[in-house]
Amino acid sequence: MEASEKVKSYAFSEEQVNKLDEIIEKHHCQAKLIPMLEEIQQFLGFVPVEVQERIAQKTGISENDIYGVVSFYSYFTMEPRARHRIQVCLGTACYVKGGKEIADKIESTLQIKLGESTPDGRFTYEEARCFGTCGLAPVLVVDGTVYGKVKLEDVDEILSRYE
Ligand code: FES
Repeated sequence: MEASEKVKSYAFSEEQVNKLDEIIEKHHCQAKLIPMLEEIQQFLGFVPVEVQERIAQKTGISENDIYGVVSFYSYFTMEPRARHRIQVCLGTACYVKGGKEIADKIESTLQIKLGESTPDGRFTYEEARCFGTCGLAPVLVVDGTVYGKVKLEDVDEILSRYE
């Protein structure tokens, strides 16, 4: 299958594919791989393997290098992100103050695992390692809003704020 067909298999419009090619062309060398991926992440909302293959085909950058960058930085996702991004801190301070229990509660409430999104596109759940607000441990962050000293019984109420 041609890379372009694979990109279209994600139901991207022709306009999106053209814009994707424009971004790839603009950052057409390895030194600009990260800015290229950032722009694609912002534009599409994710950088799936099919898009990585297209970048490799058009730039000559190896698929392994591209995959390595996408999978290393939490900023990039290979699945579309939901409307709201939940991050539970599992850094040391948060972990010892109940962060793991908060993470378990979110998984059981939303019926998703780390890195997954709810089928209704409402939440994407991601892990984090210290937001630098350890005095507020355990910390939960939704769309950049920090909730500190979170108790298990607070989780449902916090989630209910995001539709
Ligand atoms: S360990 Fe959670 S904010 Fe620092």
